[in-house]
Amino acid sequence: AVRTGLSADVATPRRGQRIEVFGWVHRLRAQKGMTFLWLRDGRAQMQCVLSGKLVETYDALTLTLESTVRVVGTLTALPEGKSAPGGHELQADYWEVVGKAPGGDLAITNRITPDAGPDLLLDQRHLVLRGDVTSQVLRTRAIVLRAFRNFFDRRQMTEVTPPLMVQSQVEGGSTLFSFDYYGEPAYLTQSSQLYLETCLPALGDVYCMSESFRAERSLTRRHLSEYTHLEAEMAFINFEDLLTLLEDMVVQVIEEVLANPVAAAAIKELNPDFKAPQKPFKRMTHADAVAYLREHNITKDDGSFYTENDDIPEAPERRMTDAINEPILLTHFPAGIKAFYMRRCDIEKTLTESVDVLMPGVGEIVGGSMRMTDHDQLMAAMKANDIDPKAYGFYLDQRLYGTCEHGGFGLGIERFLAWLLNRWSVRETCLYPRFMGRCLP
Ligand code: 4AD
Ligand code: MG
Repeated sequence: AVRTGLSADVATPRRGQRIEVFGWVHRLRAQKGMTFLWLRDGRAQMQCVLSGKLVETYDALTLTLESTVRVVGTLTALPEGKSAPGGHELQADYWEVVGKAPGGDLAITNRITPDAGPDLLLDQRHLVLRGDVTSQVLRTRAIVLRAFRNFFDRRQMTEVTPPLMVQSQVEGGSTLFSFDYYGEPAYLTQSSQLYLETCLPALGDVYCMSESFRAERSLTRRHLSEYTHLEAEMAFINFEDLLTLLEDMVVQVIEEVLANPVAAAAIKELNPDFKAPQKPFKRMTHADAVAYLREHNITKDDGSFYTENDDIPEAPERRMTDAINEPILLTHFPAGIKAFYMRRCDIEKTLTESVDVLMPGVGEIVGGSMRMTDHDQLMAAMKANDIDPKAYGFYLDQRLYGTCEHGGFGLGIERFLAWLLNRWSVRETCLYPRFMGRCLP
């Protein structure tokens, strides 16, 4: 017998042949004289039928879910009216248990009960991963990461892997994780942006996809303390170029993801109402958003309206985005609520050339901006933000040795997936979520 995987693309050509498969028992149904095993190998599932003597053994009578088995038999097309993955089933003539999973109190169905609360599910995440939905989300995640890489490759942008252990901050000191680095203070990176900027003169336009860390103290649907951050930086562009790139990126990545049958099936199942975004995206300035909230009577907790100097928090931002129900490029935030490095608008100096991309169901998935290009202006901005320029020589040198107009952005992969797959929380769109109070498993 030829050993094969369970997915239809490798199994279907072997119909009528004797094959050998390995997998985990995903579902189990015993009838008189017949046992149906729904086998899972992580890529796909296959129905195996044990009958006759094969079901009379001790192993067959005590078989449990999540046990691993080896099955040998003939792959046959299913008769009309019956359905199973791939449209076929394996008629076993031999099978054996490879690793028996416990039954009784320790049975997997007692570890993850249908009414399990979120904490229990997170404690048991290593087992939850095996479920249909979670594995589908993680498979789609891999396809999404590849689509982003392909987008940047098409633009001949170079992928770099900046350090995650750093001594500089990017997005404010309050969310830094610090640690002892051979007796010196150091941090887990919040964003690789500063490093990407230094790559421009060496490599041209660059991107990276690595972890960023934020010591977020609030437990929300969209904040993790460790998340996968896609960041890109482009030289000799203007703000309009940046906005166009963001639209192109989202549209092309979604196009590629929808063209992938595995991802398309996941989206259809988990987010049946998903509409692929179209260019151009709706554009609003921060001032427009403040006006929108006022018109729709969305206020602060104390009943007062948001003003043009206020940061719009998650809840009102989401209410606005959900109501508008299409991607939004939210631009021109006031300098006072944004990071030190953002380029000021030529006409209105209190505003920045900044952009957030907002998506229904999640709100902000991207934060980006043009960067200050002048050395002394940047130095002054750092001082105004209480940042000691000492550790930022590498960043300031970028302005000293051949400055240029440049800009970029960061996109949270978990938020992108929460939008794409209609998940309630970013905790569902990464392998093992990290947030305040959880660093296990
Ligand atoms: O808006 P942020 O803080 O921007 C930056 O870090 C820039 N330095 C990026 C750049 O220009 N290169 O973060 C960018 C994105 C957010 O829009 C959000 O999607 C995600 O990172 N993000 C988080 N995702 C999950 N959990 C958190 N705590 C996140 N904080 C930011
Ligand atoms: Mg942001």
